[in-house]
Amino acid sequence: MIFCAKIHLLHPSKVNQLNFSSTKHLSKFFNHYNIVNSRRSFLQNSLLGGLAASTTDFWAKALPNFDKPDKKAFPIVIATWGPHLKANAAAWEVLSKGGYALDAVEAGVHIPEADPKDTSVGYGGFPDRDGHVTLDACIMDENGMAGSVSFLEHIMHPISVARRVMEKTPHVMLVGEGALKFALEQGFKKENLLTDVAKKAWEEWKVESKYKPIINVERHDTIGMVAIDMQQRIAGACSTSGAAFKMNGRVGDSPILGAGMFVDNEVGGAASTGLGEMVLRTLGSFLVVEEMRRGAHPQKAAEIAVKRIARKYPKQCEEAQVGFIAVDKRGRHGGFAIHPGFNFVVYQRNENKVYESESLLAK
Ligand code: GLY
Repeated sequence: MIFCAKIHLLHPSKVNQLNFSSTKHLSKFFNHYNIVNSRRSFLQNSLLGGLAASTTDFWAKALPNFDKPDKKAFPIVIATWGPHLKANAAAWEVLSKGGYALDAVEAGVHIPEADPKDTSVGYGGFPDRDGHVTLDACIMDENGMAGSVSFLEHIMHPISVARRVMEKTPHVMLVGEGALKFALEQGFKKENLLTDVAKKAWEEWKVESKYKPIINVERHDTIGMVAIDMQQRIAGACSTSGAAFKMNGRVGDSPILGAGMFVDNEVGGAASTGLGEMVLRTLGSFLVVEEMRRGAHPQKAAEIAVKRIARKYPKQCEEAQVGFIAVDKRGRHGGFAIHPGFNFVVYQRNENKVYESESLLAK
């Protein structure tokens, strides 16, 4: 009885309902959280150890019931940021005809990659501080196969190069000159991706040369997308031109499997947006998927990953945004961010909708 009461008291869902009006409250909260959480893990492990010993199929029963999803929940596609409704629609075009989730996410991500008005993905992306548009992208399929490119220049659709890396090479990731050489060998066209608008922004930036990522800049950023098709195959894709005016050679979270995006066909998928350094240090998308594997709703799993970042980097959280989207194998979805202002798009049951994300810091 005492045992159960303690577990209930320390349940993370209670912790995750909290919001903070200021990052000053974060460290105080997490000192307390760390103590109770480690005690909770110990108690849970003791309990689970006892049960596992008594029944061999304990783990199967303990995991969420992913094998009986609501069939009407599929297909589904989720992507970061409201302006990516069009990208979602392109993915839906594939999914609604019974198409393959991997084709859907590739088609979806092509939309902002080719849009010169989108200054944070592909063509039209803001350059690094030396004036180079350098692109990062990754893709992952239902079998856990993955491809990635990073620090790639002159190619309009890095997501398709990433897919070729996955399908045509024995490797997962190609970068820089090697990635470009491979893309050209594969028939991709070399193009100038620096638009006049992006060049002008860079020239204005050079006057002061002050590097300061802006929270929710224009309410779009990296596109991260996860889709589940009618056959319940899951795929994810992520593409970006990275932080505007970054150092030449800088790589963010987007091309790194487990950071910018991760899917596991047994569980679900997740993707991130915002300042990649904080996601890289915490492998945020992998964490979201693992929390869903442990039974968390996608919304809660995204929240746990944001809180992990906040606990480790409270100071940086004051100045930077990170948001996650997530979907599980039951077709449930969610998103969570550090700061208000993040939103995401979900196409499900013939409806393409924008959801305003909850956030750690209050509006
Ligand atoms: N999340 C994109 C980047 O930081 O590069």
